[in-house]
Amino acid sequence: MMKKTIVAALSMLVCGAAWAADGTPAAVDAQLIKQGEYLSRAGDCIACHTATNGKPFAGGLGIESPLGTIYSTNITPDKDTGIGNYTYEDFDRAVRHGVAKDGHSLYPAMPYTAYAKVTPDDVKALYAYFMHGVEPVKQANKDTDITWPLSMRWPLGVWRWMFAPDVVTAPAANAAAVADADKQALLRGQYLVEGLGHCSTCHTPRGVALQEKALSDADGSAFLSGGVVEGWLAKNLRGDMTDGLGSWSKEDIAAFLKSGRNGHSAAFGGMAQVVQDSTQHLTDADLNAIAVYLKSLPPVNKDATKPLAYNETVAQALRTGTDKGDGAMAFLNNCAACHRSTGKGYTETFPQLALSSTVNSADPTSLIHIVLKGAQMPGTTAAPTAYAMPGFDWRMTDKEVADVVTFVRSSWGNQGAKVSASDVAKVRKDVGAAPQPKR
Ligand code: HEC
Ligand code: HEC
Ligand code: HEC
Repeated sequence: MMKKTIVAALSMLVCGAAWAADGTPAAVDAQLIKQGEYLSRAGDCIACHTATNGKPFAGGLGIESPLGTIYSTNITPDKDTGIGNYTYEDFDRAVRHGVAKDGHSLYPAMPYTAYAKVTPDDVKALYAYFMHGVEPVKQANKDTDITWPLSMRWPLGVWRWMFAPDVVTAPAANAAAVADADKQALLRGQYLVEGLGHCSTCHTPRGVALQEKALSDADGSAFLSGGVVEGWLAKNLRGDMTDGLGSWSKEDIAAFLKSGRNGHSAAFGGMAQVVQDSTQHLTDADLNAIAVYLKSLPPVNKDATKPLAYNETVAQALRTGTDKGDGAMAFLNNCAACHRSTGKGYTETFPQLALSSTVNSADPTSLIHIVLKGAQMPGTTAAPTAYAMPGFDWRMTDKEVADVVTFVRSSWGNQGAKVSASDVAKVRKDVGAAPQPKR
């Protein structure tokens, strides 16, 4: 024990000396850098700032926007191509105010509208990490594919002025000063969700100028009420019973964010990456805080307070072969092997379709998308096996997909509305799935 402590102390001294030797201030303490690394996980900086198969944080990932493709930039401390010459003030201006070092406004594809809520102390830790904890990489930034006149940056300044929230100047409500433990968790959860977690950039619907319709619960119940990103519905995270988190416990939410799966569902689409790169790395205390906060959000629809109830009749009809409808047959032939005739699946392996919020959401985008292209759960430290669902785009026609999805939405107690072949055709085109098979 004693020996370990001495070795640790020595290695810290050696590291400190190394920084001093290459000109970096030895005063930057390892603890601050470590804290910055943790916060960069909470902010998921790596997801956008790393190209597929690229070096961490070297940028170059194309992000689709209605205007064209925007490329993330190199945020490694390389002095020529990265942010090695950024002072703390420059870094803060980019991260929380959306303004680059040379004064141009950043596209809100960089979620500075959320990061505006991060406290100065946390930005300082992030800065320490990006300057001293990240490997510098020489890689020039790419220009956007946006053509003139839309490529002019000055309208972004106007956008910023209209839609960006005020930047936090002092630490917000001091959570530590609140006595009651749950209240403390609530404040911490709100801070993580609204700020670094930028959950709302995907989970809140957008208005005509692509601004999020609400940046906090105080702005109204549009906040975290669901939005469509890259052909997936980032679901309602409010208290709604059928399509929100009303029937999930705090523990269910924390388990989902830690392992990518729970008794209700498994992460897919953009959320699989969020779990992989970000939430699985958070402490149990922070995950509990996020769950406490999400459970505090009232439902959008205050009248629908009853949870859906499981209904046995469909499972019986499938077992006895009395339901010979097109949807039932398509389900038996393509889905039942994994999701079972009961619609209950196998917990944490093949998610249940009965009473599932994915299945019951008014907007069926995710449901159609997953049937067409399949999906893979994240593999996490807590649950390493990344089970996958195959895509059926090349095997099922638009009508067959519509039939099976409509069947799933109306079976085992589910109450989703009918889906038509033209709904499927639209999603097939939007997500670039294979053309439907000829019959
Ligand atoms: C959802 C995607 C996304 C996430 C998450 C994200 N960024 Fe960015 N960031 C971008 C994009 C895209 C740009 C370039 C915007 C532009 O060119 O207008 C950018 C630009 C920046 C810049 C400006 C760099 C320059 O060259 O001036 C900094 C600094 C930055 N990000 C830091 C961060 C940090 C730190 C985090 C995590 C706390 C983070 N980003 C998370 C997408 C993202
Ligand atoms: C890049 C976009 C994106 C971001 C950022 C994002 N999510 Fe998601 N999230 C999704 C999508 C898409 C789904 C639907 C797929 C699924 O259920 O896994 C989803 C689903 C979920 C679910 C499951 C809901 C259900 O009823 O099954 C939870 C819980 C969740 N997200 C929480 C969060 C939290 C908390 C944050 C912020 C820390 C966050 N998400 C950030 C895209 C995102
Ligand atoms: C080989 C097994 C397998 C087959 C066959 C299969 N699935 Fe899946 N399904 C999965 C797995 C694994 C997941 C989790 C994927 C993820 O989270 O990325 C999943 C997820 C889903 C989800 C999302 C549930 C949620 O909330 O997390 C839906 C909806 C779904 N499947 C419907 C279907 C339908 C409809 C069919 C038939 C057309 C089908 N599946 C066929 C394995 C399968």
